[in-house]
Amino acid sequence: MLQLSGATKIYNGQTVFSNLDLSVSPGQFKVLVGPSGCGKSTLFDGLTGVMALDRGEISWKGHALAHLGRHAAYMQQKDLLLPWFSLMDNALLPARTGKMDMTRMKSRANKLFIRLGLKGYESHHPHEVSGGMRQRCALVRTLMFNRDLILLDEPLSALDAITRRRLQSLLLLLQTEFNKTILMITHDIEEALLLADEVYLLSPQPMAIKERFVLNQPKPRHFNDPDLLKIKEYMLAQLEGEPTCEAG
Ligand SMILES: Nc1ncnc2c1ncn2[C@@H]1O[C@H](COP(=O)(O)OP(=O)(O)OP(=O)(O)O)[C@@H](O)[C@H]1O
Ligand SMILES: [Mg+2]
Repeated sequence: MLQLSGATKIYNGQTVFSNLDLSVSPGQFKVLVGPSGCGKSTLFDGLTGVMALDRGEISWKGHALAHLGRHAAYMQQKDLLLPWFSLMDNALLPARTGKMDMTRMKSRANKLFIRLGLKGYESHHPHEVSGGMRQRCALVRTLMFNRDLILLDEPLSALDAITRRRLQSLLLLLQTEFNKTILMITHDIEEALLLADEVYLLSPQPMAIKERFVLNQPKPRHFNDPDLLKIKEYMLAQLEGEPTCEAG
C-alpha cells in the first residue's frame, strides 16, 4: 500500500535519517518506537508533505507520489487546534475545507464526540479544556477524514490510564472493524505490543530501523501473555542501551 525508499532528511547539516525504507501493507497496524528526538515526527512530516524530504521515493498503491497528501489522515504530535474555534468547529474543519455533506459530517462528529468522551464540550474552546481533551479533539478531527491510511504521532500520550485504554480499544476497532491501515508512533512499549502487527524499534540519529518485531498474537491482547512480557523486557533493554539524542 505504502512504500518509502531511501528517505533522507538533513536539518542544519545534521542527518536526521538517511536511506530509510518503510513499507505498510493494507490493514496493517504498524508502530514505531524510538528515543525522543530521533526523527519519528520528521519522518511522518516527510511522508505527509508537511515538510519536504531531501531524498526519498514514496509509492502509494504502486504510484509514485511527492507525498501522501490527501491519501492519509495525519494526527500531528502538537494538536494544532485553532484557538478561536470551538472543539466542534475544530473537528468540522476538514469537512468545511473538503466541501463535504455537512449534515452527514456533523452526525459523524457527534458520534465521535460521544465515543471519545467529549460530549457536552462541543462549544468549549481549546483553552477551556484539558490537554487530554484537546488531544481527543485532534483525534476526532483526524477520524473525520475517513481515509484508508491513518498516521498517528503519539495520539494518546496526554491521556490518563483508563481513557487511554478505552481509546486503544477504539484504535483496534478502526483496524479490525473498519479496515483502516494505521501507522502510529508511541513511547509506550506496552501500547505498541497490545496494538501492533509489527513494531519497529528505532535507533537515534541518524534514525534507523534497529529491529522489527512481528506480532501474531490475536487481539485484543492482554499483558499477562508471557511472550509479550518477554518482548517488552527485551525492547526496554535495547532502548536503555541507546544514548539519548539529546546527550548526543
Ligand atoms: N523544523 C526543524 N528545524 C530544524 N531541526 C528540526 C526541525 N524539526 C525537527 N528538527 C530536529 O530533527 C530531529 C528529530 O526531531 P523529531 O521531532 O522528528 O523527533 P521525534 O523522534 O519525533 O522526537 P519525540 O519522540 O520527542 O517527539 C531533532 O534533532 C530536532 O531538533
Ligand atoms: Mg515526535
